[in-house]
Amino acid sequence: EKVPLKLEVNGKKYKLAVEPRTTLLDLLREELNLTGTKKGCDYGQCGACTVHVDGQRVNSCLSFAVMHDGRKVTTIEGLADGDKLHPMQEAFVKHDGFQCGYCTPGQIMSAVACVREGHAGSDAEIREYMSGNICRCGAYSNIVAAIQEVKN
Ligand code: FES
Repeated sequence: EKVPLKLEVNGKKYKLAVEPRTTLLDLLREELNLTGTKKGCDYGQCGACTVHVDGQRVNSCLSFAVMHDGRKVTTIEGLADGDKLHPMQEAFVKHDGFQCGYCTPGQIMSAVACVREGHAGSDAEIREYMSGNICRCGAYSNIVAAIQEVKN
């Protein structure tokens, strides 16, 4: 049986009815058509599904949508300001912080949280904070460079 859920996603308010078992990831992708958030492993190991809930980063595959009633969700689609990319998006472009790009939305959402939470000190600190975001192409050093640039 579906339950009511109020959610604000990227500044837009939604009144939804969802199955209690629906993950936030599936809700975003399949019901709201926000497919920028990726499904990699679907069990909390890869970080491709990272979004922000009330400013905190969350692996959206691991949490049920109904847990977030009344909260504000930001996905990669909500990061840019109209046509103007977020500074972290600009930095990923400038430093080639990706190859295939599949992990990139999650990487960028984590990277924004990394700077916002004050964990973008040394390269080692950044790597530690970002360690839940896996990149099979191995773009890690460029991702760190992008984060270092935004922090400065
Ligand atoms: Fe959520 Fe991999 S899809 S951590």
